[in-house]
Amino acid sequence: MGPHAASRPLTLSEQADELEEKMMNELNDKIATKSALFAMADGSLGYVGGAELQARNPGKYFLMGADPRLPKMPDKPTLIDFFKHRFVSMNHLLQSATLALKAGHEEKVVLACLLHDVGVAGFIRCDHGYWGAQLIEPYVDEEVSWAVRVHQALRFFPDESAGYKYPDMYLKYFGPDYQPEPYIVDEYKRARSHKYYMTARLICVNDIYSFDPDAKVNLDDFVDIIGRNFKQPKEGLGFDNTPSSHMWRTLMWPTRFL
Ligand SMILES: [Fe+2]
Ligand SMILES: [Fe+2]
Repeated sequence: MGPHAASRPLTLSEQADELEEKMMNELNDKIATKSALFAMADGSLGYVGGAELQARNPGKYFLMGADPRLPKMPDKPTLIDFFKHRFVSMNHLLQSATLALKAGHEEKVVLACLLHDVGVAGFIRCDHGYWGAQLIEPYVDEEVSWAVRVHQALRFFPDESAGYKYPDMYLKYFGPDYQPEPYIVDEYKRARSHKYYMTARLICVNDIYSFDPDAKVNLDDFVDIIGRNFKQPKEGLGFDNTPSSHMWRTLMWPTRFL
């Protein structure tokens, strides 16, 4: 039993205190901070400044590194480590890549399918194609990152000749009247005449949510393709000074104060 071993039930504020205490213990007495964007996800612009946060947690310093509530990352993390310890919807990515592999597509296409939703899997939904492409851009062939970027737009536009129709899922998710915004329409128009159009289109063709509920998908099946097509930096992702290193670090340490 905790500090409240009395027979009466805990009041709400005692429960909150206990939860906070438990959280602090797990955080090794550091204060984890929610960024403005995390609060906005709860519909709030309620920013709490550093001084006030520390006043609420007397004697504690802010977390400036790994959040011990999250799985531990190695010192020199690889893409595989992010798949295992940070990406929350790995199965969808593995299913898409498995489909592409079975269809006999070249490795660039398989990798593009494997990475197409890393934006959603590890970062943010809004404009996930753009975020995902930016994240991987320094490490993959430009064809792969280009395709990841524009698959977001192409998903809204059918191409029957390539075997892609407007997804039933989108009708269900967004309603029959949903129209993509002009920037998505423009992206689609630019993509149509681009030399890598088919690569992005193949992401859409393989972008389905379940092809066989019993199908076994395994990250191990893609380790070699990743090894040949994703330039893993020797310093580890996040520590290699590329234009997206900071994004990998943020994925690693999402609750650092700065
Ligand atoms: Fe996507
Ligand atoms: Fe997807």
